[in-house]
Amino acid sequence: MSPFQLTRTLAEDAMDAELRSDVLHGLTRTPKELPPKWFYDARGSDLFEEITRLPEYYPTRAEREILIARAEEIAAATGARTLVELGSGSSEKTRHLLDALLPGLEVYVPVDVSESALKSAGDALLAERPSLRVHALVADFTRGLELPPTAGPRLVAFLGGTIGNLLPDERREFLRAVRRMLAPGDALLLGTDLVKDEGTLVAAYDDAAGVTAAFNKNVLAVVDRELGADADPDDFDHVALWDREHEWIEMRLRARHALAVKIRELDLVVPFEAGEELRTEVSAKFRREGVRTELAKAGLTLSRWWTDEAGRFALSLATVERGAGGVG
Ligand code: SAH
Ligand code: TRP
Repeated sequence: MSPFQLTRTLAEDAMDAELRSDVLHGLTRTPKELPPKWFYDARGSDLFEEITRLPEYYPTRAEREILIARAEEIAAATGARTLVELGSGSSEKTRHLLDALLPGLEVYVPVDVSESALKSAGDALLAERPSLRVHALVADFTRGLELPPTAGPRLVAFLGGTIGNLLPDERREFLRAVRRMLAPGDALLLGTDLVKDEGTLVAAYDDAAGVTAAFNKNVLAVVDRELGADADPDDFDHVALWDREHEWIEMRLRARHALAVKIRELDLVVPFEAGEELRTEVSAKFRREGVRTELAKAGLTLSRWWTDEAGRFALSLATVERGAGGVG
């Protein structure tokens, strides 16, 4: 059997229907908004990889530092035979974890909406690890995830601070769904970016080279291509601001002047006033107590908490208590 298998759980036409519905609802409401998963077509995934190498974007480096320091400890604590990774992208940091787990690991299951990212990640990992088996899933981790039947114990990793891209209600639902994927003895490895000074946070989402601006505007290119719209990225400014009350970074696209976007396939014209903003993403920042509470509400126990030396980013290991019943 080939060491690389890819399963598409998202039918092309279901994705298309969902994009239509998200764009229709998101652009006809006030304020306008679009869900972040539409950033990640092939170009969006490439731009995100470029973001991870920017001097201002510290989360990737901080999380890699923790993974390198703690991979052996995580492997010993979990004894995982299956590693599932949600929103795996390039799986670039995950290699540290994989190498520590590999002696006992049977399969790595990366899950992402971006098929192009899954394929290149699989190729890169397998080129250097002939004993690894990869079963990639093209799937939406916010929808009932069907995992292939694989050996336990299972470790589910959700890295990159991507949990912060979910709104609080979505986060609660998501963590409950993760809890349902886990059996007693399984674990969740969760990466969260931490609250820190506003200057550092805003710079990470508004870099000098403009890569994050290009990434943010890529969502317009996706809508243009997939739905025959005529949004011009040059008509919008990239905005990143710190929302002190919610403790999240909010990413927006602001219309430079009054304009209208025609969306042919929806038979829709979307007017923007000059300065009107479209919210494209939040990136919530966390504190230890908040993470502990959110995990507990989903039936998960925070058992380890590690940060990088500078205290910018945290990795949490959460466990399902042995003997714990299912929740909901
Ligand atoms: N884990 C990587 C990538 C983080 S970027 C890292 O830490 O660097 C977020 C990733 O999640 C992208 O690869 C994107 O394609 C994926 N993603 C975003 N929303 C998703 C969804 N709803 N379902 C599955 N994957 C999603
Ligand atoms: N998960 C990443 C984060 O919240 C995603 C991300 C980084 C992102 N930079 C972005 C999303 C810019 C939209 C725009 O840090």
